[in-house]
Amino acid sequence: MKKKLIAGNWKMNGSLAANEALVKGLLAGLDRSACQVALCVPSVYLAQMQALMAGSAIDLGAQDLSQHAAGAFTGEISGAMLNEFGVRYCIVGHSERRQYHFESDALVAAKAQRALAFGITPIVCVGETLAEREAGKTEEVVKRQLAAVIHANGHCISEIVVAYEPVWAIGTGKTASTEQAQQVHAVLRAQLKAASPQADRIHILYGGSMNAANAAELLAQPDIDGGLVGGASLKAPDFLSIIASAL
Ligand code: PGA
Repeated sequence: MKKKLIAGNWKMNGSLAANEALVKGLLAGLDRSACQVALCVPSVYLAQMQALMAGSAIDLGAQDLSQHAAGAFTGEISGAMLNEFGVRYCIVGHSERRQYHFESDALVAAKAQRALAFGITPIVCVGETLAEREAGKTEEVVKRQLAAVIHANGHCISEIVVAYEPVWAIGTGKTASTEQAQQVHAVLRAQLKAASPQADRIHILYGGSMNAANAAELLAQPDIDGGLVGGASLKAPDFLSIIASAL
C-alpha cells in the first residue's frame, strides 16, 4: 500500500525567522517512519528551505509555476528554476489562483504538463464552490477540472497528485464530512482509473480546513490518500499531529 502524503500549503505566509522556527520544530518532532511529507512554500523562500531541509525526510514544494518554459513573462517562475532548488512538488490550479488570477481549466492543465516535463509532481487542485454544491453540480465541476488535466497529460497522468479541495471548506473552518469527501474522492478515482491502468498509485489528497482534530477520520477513508493542509501547516504541533494520524 502506498504511504499517505501530507503536504503543507503555506500560501502567502512566512518570514525568514518564522520559517526557520517552524521547520526546526517539524524536524525535531518528525518520526522518520511517518508518511510522506512536503511543504509548499512561497518561492522566495525556496533557497532557505532547501538549506534548512537538506537531508531531511521532508520534500520541498512550490505553489505555482509558469506554463511557459522561459522568456518574457515578468513575475513568473519556471519549472527549470524550481528544479534548481530541489523542488519535488508544485501545486497547480489552487482555487485561490482560479478565483483571483482567473486560471482556466486549460491553463491549469498546461501548468501540470509543464511541471511534469521538468520532473516535478504537480498537485492538481479541483473543487466546487458552495453555489455549485448547492446546485448539485459538485461531480460535474470536479470531473470537468480533472478531465482537462487528463486530456493534456495522457499516459503521464499516473505521475500527478490530485487534491480535492471544496472551495467552501478552505480556510473557513468548515470541513467536508468524511462521507462528502470520500464520495468525491471515489468519483475522482474512477475517472483516473478510466484514464490509466496505474491510477491506484495516484495520491488523492483532501484539503479544506483539515486539522489535528478531524485528520484521522478523513485519512481513514479508502480513497483519501493524504491531505493538503493550509492553516494547520503553519503550527508545528498541529502539522505534526496531522502527520501522525496519517500512518
Ligand atoms: P486550509 O487551506 O487548510 O487553511 O483550509 C487548504 C488549502 O487551501 O490548501
